[in-house]
Amino acid sequence: MMKLFDVYPLYPIELMKAQGSTVWDKNGQEYLDLYGGHAVISIGHSHPTYVARMTEQLSNIGFYSNSIIIGGQAELAEKLGRVSGYPSYQLFLTNSGAESNENALKLASFHTGRKKVVAFTKAFHGRTAGAVAVTDNPSIVAPINDTSHVTFHPFNQIEGLSDVITEETAAVIVEGIQGVGGIQVASTPFLKALRQRCDETGAQLILDSVQCGYGRSGKFFSHQYAGINPDMMTTAKGMGNGFPIGGVLIAPHIQASYGLLGTTFGGNHLACTAANVVLDIIEEENLLANATQIGAYIEQELAGIQGIKEVRGRGLMIGIELEEAVGPIRDALLHQHHIFMGYAGKHTLRLLPSLAIDQAIADRFLESLRSVLKG
Ligand SMILES: Cc1ncc(COP(=O)(O)O)c(C=O)c1O
Repeated sequence: MMKLFDVYPLYPIELMKAQGSTVWDKNGQEYLDLYGGHAVISIGHSHPTYVARMTEQLSNIGFYSNSIIIGGQAELAEKLGRVSGYPSYQLFLTNSGAESNENALKLASFHTGRKKVVAFTKAFHGRTAGAVAVTDNPSIVAPINDTSHVTFHPFNQIEGLSDVITEETAAVIVEGIQGVGGIQVASTPFLKALRQRCDETGAQLILDSVQCGYGRSGKFFSHQYAGINPDMMTTAKGMGNGFPIGGVLIAPHIQASYGLLGTTFGGNHLACTAANVVLDIIEEENLLANATQIGAYIEQELAGIQGIKEVRGRGLMIGIELEEAVGPIRDALLHQHHIFMGYAGKHTLRLLPSLAIDQAIADRFLESLRSVLKG
């Protein structure tokens, strides 16, 4: 019998149903989902409008390739430009975060004719060849992906940027808030310094917004807190609320030509419908304001809980650094309190819930965390 390639350590839980921020396993046990399948569930599980529009789209046409007009793509570009505050940018659609970063790096290289890339310590950008080469984790970089084109500079360190970003640099790639790296927010002076040095050298500034984008930080893109404009932003995760879709938002000075980039599945009918519904719901339900408000409430309440060393992040992308090891705390939250949470490293809990959670959900989480940390 064929077996699965065993790369994921699994919880012995099989989910059968989901609604909003509640999920149920096959024994009928209910859980509170504050992890969103890793920052993917942006508008809540099985939102009725999402289900209705996806079902309708599937019954009309589910897929066709990029050789014909797919109306949902232009609709998505218009909506995404408006909601994100980048109406003059161009959109290339992909299927995942890694693929978005891969294409952004390629575009920077095509545009500048250069090969070198600057990335940052603890960065995670995905697992395809280019994306993993700019990821600061040697254990997931295969020999074939190991390249001398990439230099890693300390995250949030301005000193030395002018030595490392030069006229040979094609791209600088950075997460607005590092996710896998433990919820570390790129500081405003750091992002401004990157923008300035890229302007001086012609290097293209790519903001990997796969995890911290799409409203998670309370603004559409977290770098908007710093008031800078990147040359490209990459997205995925929350974009389709679970249906695979990613995108590269591309500044007007970067020119397209036929055949420069391409994909079979990127921007198909179902994917565009998913992304269009997500943006509609983000607007209709005011989810950016909700993420800001509930995020601020959670951060304020966390400040009074014993056993917490530091709280980092913005909006509903919150890292809670604990004094003790995170593993047993996360297990107690899951198995005793039935709450799904993320983690990063050995001490940090990661909160990545739907952007639609309300205060009652926040209170249930806070109560459970207080009780687990006391125990
Ligand atoms: C910041 C960041 N970039 C890229 C990726 C890769 O996205 P995907 O798994 O969709 O390829 C991730 C995934 O966790 C991420 O957090």
